[in-house]
Amino acid sequence: MFKIYILTETDFILSNFDVAKASCGSVTWKTPSNIALVKYWGKQEPQLPENTSISFTLNNCCTITTLEYKLKSEVQNSESEFNFEVFFEGKKKDDFKPKIQKFFQRIAQYVPFLKDFDFVIKSENSFPHSSGIASSASGMSALALCLMSLEKKLNPTITNKYFNEKASFLARLGSGSACRSIEGELIVWGKHPEIEASSDLYGVKFPYKVHKNFNNYQDTILLVDEGVKQVSSTVGHNLMYNHPFAKQRFKQANNHISKIKEVLQNGDLKEFIAIVESEALSLHAMMMTSSPYFILMKPNTLKIIHKIWEFREATGSSICFTLDAGANVHVLFPEHEKEKANKFIVNELIQFCQEKHYICDSVGKGAFQLTMDN
Ligand code: DP6
Repeated sequence: MFKIYILTETDFILSNFDVAKASCGSVTWKTPSNIALVKYWGKQEPQLPENTSISFTLNNCCTITTLEYKLKSEVQNSESEFNFEVFFEGKKKDDFKPKIQKFFQRIAQYVPFLKDFDFVIKSENSFPHSSGIASSASGMSALALCLMSLEKKLNPTITNKYFNEKASFLARLGSGSACRSIEGELIVWGKHPEIEASSDLYGVKFPYKVHKNFNNYQDTILLVDEGVKQVSSTVGHNLMYNHPFAKQRFKQANNHISKIKEVLQNGDLKEFIAIVESEALSLHAMMMTSSPYFILMKPNTLKIIHKIWEFREATGSSICFTLDAGANVHVLFPEHEKEKANKFIVNELIQFCQEKHYICDSVGKGAFQLTMDN
């Protein structure tokens, strides 16, 4: 039997590199969003999850980020600041800078070359920003991957496995769920005794054979409320400190991981639905019972949920829903039900979406590099 090696924080510190190997150039990555089946909600510094989570990597909802880099002409002292500009969908976005500044501060010890370069970051999303779709997941993972491409130039000896694990590790420090947006198709984040090689520090591929029922699983995202999120994830996670039900919730999530591990291998769709819908409602229950409390669902969110339940009851379909920390509904179903489900969605559900907006997506294989030039 070969030994599984789980990396620790110190494994991610780059010590042996030569900045002269990359004077200027650019790199572009296309990175997907992801949808959690068992949710991450609650964390400790530095961005360590209170429970294990698992997600499907998506295919169509993605961010494309180009990182332009240029070696600074003078050697800066370690006190100097990071130098970068941010453009989003063609426009200069100074209001995105504080989040990236904080990200750079957090990761600087692991990528010490950050202060040696001037950067221009250019990003665009395939979905509306702040539509409630996890733009921080795809955005932060894209930036982490661009930085890893630069790291690989400075230190070409790193393996692909290390490249992905460190990209996930860095992305996590930008946004927790971003660490699940590097590879496909099912990613586990958070140490769990029943998931081999799982780690709190980075996401890993679900390490067991997945039943064919989950091949190319479909996710149609119903945009019930396209406004800016009512509660940011950061605020939401903080509500789990001193939450009266936090301990039980973390336990429930970890139990769901044990169960879904079996379900993903045996293809039991009934049990899959029970876990996934329970997770969505538990996440919202946490927000309804926190102090202060929030209701992030809208009346149309509930109408959609009831329609899905009625349809499932009437037709025996395996369609189900999940939610993120907002009002939008992710409608999940197996590929072989695509035709039937799409008809149902168009005829009965999109009337509850803002301007009938929805996005058809499915499980994807992870991020890929579009260009790298000098
Ligand atoms: C409800 O990853 O956005 O989508 O770590 O503060 O950036 P930060 O939070 P974030 O939280 C996502 C929470 C969730 C559930 C999930 O994706 O697991």
